[in-house]
Amino acid sequence: MKGYSDVLIGLQYGDEGKGRIIDSIAHKYDIIARFNGGPNAGHTIEAEGKKIVLHSIPSGVFHRNTTLYIGSGCVVNVEKLLEELHLIKNAGINLEGRLHISDRTTLILPHHIALDKILGKKLGTTSNGIGPAYADRAIRSHENILTNIHLGNIIATPEKTKKDIIQNYRERFEKFFGTEQDIQHTAERITTNAQQLKQYLSPDRLFLTQVAQLGKKILFEGAQSAGLDVNHGTVPYVTSSHTCASAAYTDLPVNYHRKTIGVAKAIMSRVGNGPFISELGRESSETYCMENEGKKHTREVEQHYDLEKLLTSPNHFDIGIALRILGNEYGATTKRPRRIGMLDLVQLKEMCQLNKVDELYLTKIDRLADFSRTTLQGIPFVTAYSLDGEPLHYTPTVLADHLRVQPHTTYHPNILPITSTHYQDLPPTTQQLIKTIEEHTGCHIRGMGIGPQREQLITTY
Ligand code: IMP
Repeated sequence: MKGYSDVLIGLQYGDEGKGRIIDSIAHKYDIIARFNGGPNAGHTIEAEGKKIVLHSIPSGVFHRNTTLYIGSGCVVNVEKLLEELHLIKNAGINLEGRLHISDRTTLILPHHIALDKILGKKLGTTSNGIGPAYADRAIRSHENILTNIHLGNIIATPEKTKKDIIQNYRERFEKFFGTEQDIQHTAERITTNAQQLKQYLSPDRLFLTQVAQLGKKILFEGAQSAGLDVNHGTVPYVTSSHTCASAAYTDLPVNYHRKTIGVAKAIMSRVGNGPFISELGRESSETYCMENEGKKHTREVEQHYDLEKLLTSPNHFDIGIALRILGNEYGATTKRPRRIGMLDLVQLKEMCQLNKVDELYLTKIDRLADFSRTTLQGIPFVTAYSLDGEPLHYTPTVLADHLRVQPHTTYHPNILPITSTHYQDLPPTTQQLIKTIEEHTGCHIRGMGIGPQREQLITTY
C-alpha cells in the first residue's frame, strides 16, 4: 500500500493555533514533519494536563507512536534545540528513536543572532537569527569560507567544521567576538554540544520517501504561515522561508500529496511590523504594539485596564486592546502584544486558493461572541477591498499600495457564547456564520477550535 502526505499550514500571519490542530489530528498519521523555519516558531500544545511550547520540534510530541522529522528546509540552533529536548524530557516524553533531523538543516550560529538583532529590528523579527542563517545558506561560501554549515557537517567532521566556524568569525564577523579566545571558545562549545544531536541525525535523503513507500502517512507541519511567506507575504515584513504548502515537498516527491489543510484564526493577529489591512485601529495599534515590543509585562499592564470601557468605546483601537486581553493574545515566547484585526475574508480566500486548501480549521471561534459586548453592529468581517475608489480583488504586492487599501466591512449578527462541542447543537446564527465564511472562502470548514484543550474542538463531519 502506498502512503500519502497531507500539508497543514497557517493562512494568516502565524499564531493561528496550528500546534493545537496538529495535536488533535496527529493520531491519524505515522510521521509529523517540519519543512521550514526554525526556533522562530512557537507552537503551544496543552494535553495530558501539561502545556508545552515547541519551537523546532514538530507538534506531535504527545502522540508517542508518531515519528517526528525536521526536514532539510529548516534551520537549526543546536543549543536551543537541546534546551527544547530537555524540557520535553522533563515533561515525561522520550524522543529517542522517535526524532529524526535531516543532516542538511543549516546551522544558526551566534553571529546570525547578533546580526538579526541589528538588521531585523525594524522588521520586528523574532531575533532568532533566521534571516541571516538562510542568507548564509544562499551565499554558500564567501571568499572560500563555507557559510552554509550543515548539522551533518558539524557532527560528521567536527574539527573541520570548527575551523569553518572560526574562519567565519575571524574574517567575516570579528566585531561580534571580542577576542580570539571568545572565538575559539564559542566554536568549541557549539561543536561539542552538537555531538549530543548525533543520535537524531538522518543522513539519508530518502528517509521520508522510503517510509511513504512502506505505506506510512505523513503530516507536514508548516511554520510562520502564508502571510509571512518570503515571496507571497508582505515583503519585507515577512520571514525568510517559503511557508506555502508547496514548500513542504523538499524531502518527499510531490506525488505523495493527498490534501492541504489550512488553519485560520477567527479574530486575526499579527506580531512584528508590516501591513495588516483588517487591523482594529490600524496605525495606532501598530505603533502601540511596536512600542510595547520589548516590554515583557504588557499582558500584566493591560489586565488592569477597564475592560468594559474599552469594549464599549467607539474607537476600534480600544476594542482591539479589549479583544487582545480577552483572547490572551500575547506571544508564546516573546510575550509581545499581538496586533488584533477582524477576520479578513478577502485575504483568506486568496490564501485558500493559492494553496488549494481542501479543509479549513477555524480556531478561537468562541471569541467571536466577545463582539456582542461591544457597541458594534455585530461581528465584523472584511469582505471587500478598494484602492483609490476602485474595487480590488487581491492583496497588492507593492507595499505602498498595500498600506493604502481600504477594507469594507460586513456585519454578521452576534452569536451566543459557545457551550457545546457538537456542531448540531450550535444555534442557527452560529451555524449561519460558519456557512458565510465557507461561502466567502469557497472552502469547507472541517473544524473549529473553542479553547486550547484537545477536546475543545468542534468537527463538522
Ligand atoms: P523572523 O522569522 O524571526 O525573521 O521574523 C520575521 C517576521 O515573522 C516577524 O514579523 C515575526 O514576528 C514573524 N514571525 C516569525 N515567526 C513567527 C511565528 O511563529 N508566529 C508569528 N509570527 C512569526
